[in-house]
Amino acid sequence: MFVLNTISFVKLVVFILLKSKNIVFTDTIYILIIRIMSLPKPRNIKIERYVGGLSKLKKVSSPFKLSANESALGASPKVIKILEKEKNKIFKYPDSDSYELKKILSGNFKINPDRIICGSGSDQIFDLTCQLFLKPGDEVIATEYGFIMHRIYASLYGAKVLFAKEKNFKASIKEIIKKVSNKTKMVFIANPNNPTGTYLAKNEMLQLRKKLRKDILLVVDDAYFEFLSKQKNFVSGLELFKNSKNVLVTRTFSKVYGLAGLRLGWGYSSKEIIKLMNKIKPPFNVNKLALSAGVEAAKDKTWINKAIKYNSIWSKKIFSVLQNYKIRCNAPSANFFLMNFDHTKLNSDQVFRKLADKRIILRKMTQYKIPNSLRLTIGSKKANEHLIRSIGEIFK
Ligand SMILES: Cc1ncc(COP(=O)(O)O)c(C=O)c1O
Repeated sequence: MFVLNTISFVKLVVFILLKSKNIVFTDTIYILIIRIMSLPKPRNIKIERYVGGLSKLKKVSSPFKLSANESALGASPKVIKILEKEKNKIFKYPDSDSYELKKILSGNFKINPDRIICGSGSDQIFDLTCQLFLKPGDEVIATEYGFIMHRIYASLYGAKVLFAKEKNFKASIKEIIKKVSNKTKMVFIANPNNPTGTYLAKNEMLQLRKKLRKDILLVVDDAYFEFLSKQKNFVSGLELFKNSKNVLVTRTFSKVYGLAGLRLGWGYSSKEIIKLMNKIKPPFNVNKLALSAGVEAAKDKTWINKAIKYNSIWSKKIFSVLQNYKIRCNAPSANFFLMNFDHTKLNSDQVFRKLADKRIILRKMTQYKIPNSLRLTIGSKKANEHLIRSIGEIFK
């Protein structure tokens, strides 16, 4: 007869737990289960998981997804055409040096191609940067409501992340400097920032670099800079720090270029830093279609200007609608608004649900810990018109 000893019993319980669908497992429980089952033991990485914008709603077919700051116009038709042509070549490995893409970027922005690294999204550039510079015991400074991926990658490599308080959802240089210690290795800033939509002006950015110790790397995330290119007091990180050796600028093809699904971004820094990053990057980190699409997208300036103009027109329109209903938000800056509902009759949860009932998905701000707020991405003409109508209906 089979006698259930203690170990077998524990394994049986673990097995039942694993099979049951309604239990929420924490990392610690997973690690415990792995230990009990005598499986290879992973590191217990203390990290929060990135929660992306929802793209589906229960029982709602074809919703308007305004939750992920994706491009409203999509990719340029020229990009779509090149992808059609290139699809037959996907049996070949991509160029591991991203030569053609770097060449066109260096021409467009008047920069040295040896100071560029391409990545699978700017996400991978944050990853490589943190991997190269950080170890347990180091400190990284992020802003209170700064883009979450910055702090996630810093924590992944064991660094402690310190948050500099913001003033009215805007980064404060004074608060950043207050957090500097002799352990500080890096400061992250997205300009403009997601999800707050605020930005530091040219003189503030220069002041920040000047006030930081020389051996602290300033990472400037330029993800949405194109949308602000007409703003007088704004200058992108790349333009400002082209000649600096201790700044790393990141750029993405996911926003105005409309290539989020292909995963393409790049970083720019000193030759020395880029050389070391190239050494640790996966050999074929940017896929072949992304490279071809990137080259074509970078060439098609007409499309980018059209996307910028479209965004400027719609962001002004939506801004005035939000003001009419006393929904507070940032001034138009990028392709999204951070909306606050403190002065409206409905709170953010109610607005989220009511708009969801009308097939509109917004981004909750729970992970950012921004109370009573939602983030809205500017969408297609049809989506924007539907949104404006819906806001009118729920606040009438
Ligand atoms: C500030 C900021 N940086 C970077 C990214 C990510 O860009 P990528 O798609 O290139 O990884 C985002 C995406 O939402 C963002 O908001």
